[in-house]
Amino acid sequence: MGNQNMDDFLILYIFGIAFMGMFLRCFGSVGVNWGTMATRQLPPNSVVKMLIENGFDKVKLFEADEVILNALIGTEIEVMLAIPNYMLEDFSSNPIIADSWVEANVSAYAYPHGVKIRYVAVGNEPFLRTYNGTYLQYILPALKNVQEAINKAGLGAKVKATIPFNADIYFSPESNQVPSAGDFRPEVRDLTLQIVQYLYSNDA
Ligand SMILES: *[C@@H]1O[C@H](CO)[C@@H](O)[C@H](O)[C@H]1NC(C)=O
Ligand SMILES: *[C@@H]1O[C@H](CO)[C@@H](O)[C@H](O)[C@H]1NC(C)=O
Repeated sequence: MGNQNMDDFLILYIFGIAFMGMFLRCFGSVGVNWGTMATRQLPPNSVVKMLIENGFDKVKLFEADEVILNALIGTEIEVMLAIPNYMLEDFSSNPIIADSWVEANVSAYAYPHGVKIRYVAVGNEPFLRTYNGTYLQYILPALKNVQEAINKAGLGAKVKATIPFNADIYFSPESNQVPSAGDFRPEVRDLTLQIVQYLYSNDA
């Protein structure tokens, strides 16, 4: 297992970003997932510079990484911050945890010319079938606690809590494998509708 592999991967990754940037710049708005895996050995400042030079104006962070957030201060890049799945249980049961997370990771950067945090993703595709329903019971209460924390911080108009859905949530009958014949997976259907309703009521 070598650093060589990691280096090759990083080089590919960087070329990938540059390459995509060249093609996608024309379409206006381009986002990228900032996987901490691939960027581990790259200074966030360099990555931010590279994103800007390649026309990326949106980035998703899988964790509210302080070093990365600091590197984004003063840029025009819009940020989606994710709350990892393992935190959902605490967030769902304790609004104070959501409050202090929002204070430390959103409010702290939400000053003029700070970081343009626009979305907080509650969980990372917590509905995925692979998780076997582990997170289902936490999703809606966690979402509400996070949005309410954002509202209390006075940022409700600018920052929206949301749930990253995966296409896996969608289900087509075996007999008719087209999306139009589909519905949400039966076990998550009601919950999904409640979430959509909540997001709608919150203008997300
Ligand atoms: C801010 O986010 C980071 C990364 O998710 C987390 O480790 C930290 O506990 C958060 N801060 C607070 C006060 O919740
Ligand atoms: C999923 O849940 C079922 C029922 O609780 C259990 O039998 C199965 O082992 C679980 N699978 C995984 C991958 O956790």
